[in-house]
Amino acid sequence: MTSEVDSHMPRLWLKPGHTPVSAALGSARGRVPAMALIAVLSLCSAALAQNAAALAAGENAWDKAGCLQCHGAQGQGGDGGEFPAGPSLQKTRLDRAALAETISCGLPGTQMPAWLDDAYTKRSCYGFPLGPAPAEVTATPVLSAGEIEALVNYLMAKIVGR
Ligand code: HEC
Repeated sequence: MTSEVDSHMPRLWLKPGHTPVSAALGSARGRVPAMALIAVLSLCSAALAQNAAALAAGENAWDKAGCLQCHGAQGQGGDGGEFPAGPSLQKTRLDRAALAETISCGLPGTQMPAWLDDAYTKRSCYGFPLGPAPAEVTATPVLSAGEIEALVNYLMAKIVGR
């Protein structure tokens, strides 16, 4: 579209003898960063989508195991009504590795179950030799190692320290 104003604008690049290189460079300067930005943005959104999918997998494991029954919907600690009162997971001091071990292997002698599908039998817990889980372990082996990893990531992102 050309308007009257446009046609009266000085057009440096049309002047004879004026090299069009600067004009070309000028537009390249405008375009290259824009393309780079688009590339970075699409990488970011792919990473965000992956991250969201990983968190959703962790939340699914949280729901599937029913952690909230004892630890509260936000992991704030159970109220000890119908279910044993689990402590606040928001305030836990455990790191990733300790969370994974606790969730996989349970806390023997307490009401915190072992959730990993082959805990004690195929995957050593707390240094016990492989074999049947000790009698004082409540076993609810409904989560895979992958689900527990996703669950720990979910806890670290959404619950611990909240
Ligand atoms: C049947 C009730 C119950 C369920 C279900 C349950 N827990 Fe627990 N959990 C407990 C109790 C009780 C404790 C505290 C045990 C103790 O130290 O006396 C505990 C302790 C923990 C701890 C240790 C916290 C700390 O700081 O020492 C973690 C982590 C934990 N539970 C995570 C989970 C996760 C994740 C789930 C779901 C996969 C889950 N729990 C399901 C009852 C439960």
